[in-house]
Amino acid sequence: MNLCVVAMPGSEQCAQRIAERLGVPQCRLESRRFPDGEIYLRLLDEVQGRHVAVVAQLRDPDPQLPGLLFLADALRGLGASGVGLVAPYLPYMRQDTCFQAGEAITSRSFARLVSDAFAWLVTMDPHLHRIASLDAIYDLRAVAVPSAPSIAAWVRTEVVQPHIVGPDVESEQWVSDVAARAGCSYSVLRKRRSGDRSVELTLPDLEDLRGRTPVLVDDIVSSGQTMATTVRKIAALGFAAPICIAVHPVFAGDAFAALQLAGAARVVSCNTLRHPTNAIDVTSPLAEAIRAVVESLERGTRHLASD
Ligand code: R5P
Repeated sequence: MNLCVVAMPGSEQCAQRIAERLGVPQCRLESRRFPDGEIYLRLLDEVQGRHVAVVAQLRDPDPQLPGLLFLADALRGLGASGVGLVAPYLPYMRQDTCFQAGEAITSRSFARLVSDAFAWLVTMDPHLHRIASLDAIYDLRAVAVPSAPSIAAWVRTEVVQPHIVGPDVESEQWVSDVAARAGCSYSVLRKRRSGDRSVELTLPDLEDLRGRTPVLVDDIVSSGQTMATTVRKIAALGFAAPICIAVHPVFAGDAFAALQLAGAARVVSCNTLRHPTNAIDVTSPLAEAIRAVVESLERGTRHLASD
């Protein structure tokens, strides 16, 4: 596989893990800011004729976006044969419709920018709610890698008598898969969001939880309000303190502290974004998805060349 990996500034460790898992080299990137804040980028290794995977952990994506697009453009200009984006956390997936007249549907705008810049995308469990699949908004080869096998493996080894809880209807897609793989039961709550930091939850009958360890699983923990409110509700009913699992530990501001304060027994996350809670390593499934995409592109090129 003629692939090299380039890390966006701040994503070096993630890129290194992926390159090592794939057994491919990294292409070094020099990057700095000019005095006026504009970004300077320089590729220090040859990329001509190679596939390139740009690894970007996109917490707080706005400051990173221009550099990401410029990097893809530079790689194409230097003759890379295909430039893909590995964004373990895909941002801008939640404003996927117009809730109030005049709103920007940023999921679609972000998808258009990324699709114009990259040939393929590998990500993990994007927030697909009103949008059924990435193909509905992304015009490139998009692969959504599931986190459920990794999370279920962690639950099986770390939790005694688990019962998985999803905080809202959207979470059922992850929660049901994790529960099936971990061989345990699950429940899904109902959520009504009335503001960026305010949610109300309705609980179903939770008698299945009696004598078990509640394990809350959500895709994104951002303000932490969804998780913290769920923890408090479950504790108020006299169940054991829950373990909280985030696929994408965004943890904006004081969200992590607030979740601990709410009474979570333990907070863990997948390492799609760097965070002290990272306990579930998803390098392997991401790397295998990258390998599959690049090998199939290479097979396609060989096929065309032999026609
Ligand atoms: C939304 O539907 C997601 O699945 C999460 O529940 C949500 O993004 C969590 O946000 P917050 O941490 O701000 O409550």
